[in-house]
Amino acid sequence: MKSLILFYSRTGTTMNVANALGAALSADIKEIKCPRYQGGWFAYLRAGYDSVKGRLPPIDVPDLSIEGYDLVIIGAPIWTSYPALPLRSFLAQKPRLSGRVAVFFTFGGHSPAEKAVKMVESLLSVPLEATLALPHDQVVSGQYEAAIDTFIAKLSAVNG
Ligand SMILES: Cc1cc2nc3c(=O)[nH]c(=O)nc-3n(C[C@H](O)[C@H](O)[C@H](O)COP(=O)(O)O)c2cc1C
Repeated sequence: MKSLILFYSRTGTTMNVANALGAALSADIKEIKCPRYQGGWFAYLRAGYDSVKGRLPPIDVPDLSIEGYDLVIIGAPIWTSYPALPLRSFLAQKPRLSGRVAVFFTFGGHSPAEKAVKMVESLLSVPLEATLALPHDQVVSGQYEAAIDTFIAKLSAVNG
């Protein structure tokens, strides 16, 4: 099964999870980049402001054929209760994902992932086969192996 992990990460937390998933699934890993939000407190404030306004930024998407994958796992942080804007910019381009799709989020700890998951589902118009939401502190302390195992087991079960 050919799998792709496609993620956005501003400060590296989501990237750590993407790398762990990539290693566990022998998947390709690609990053959505967004220079607008790179940097310190000013970029943080800008991200928060844009997120509240729903203002989608320009992004750099890797050159890839998403359609060639059996499974695409999309990952991002949660910003103001919704998927981080760079992922929303990507989804707004209506990428054609022919295979199965799953999603994971990291978040600060104060927002349940339901709203973010629902938004991804509505932007993609395909059902998500599995979802994973990891608090930032859990990722930083490295205590997320069991959660990843459960997520992967769910995907494998769906795969038969
Ligand atoms: C602009 C902005 C808004 C955020 N909003 C939320 C939020 O609504 N709820 C939450 O639990 N965490 C929120 N966070 C925290 C991030 O989701 C969390 O730190 C995440 O793990 C960062 O991932 P990254 O290191 O991959 O960028 C926000 C962070 C930023 C930068």
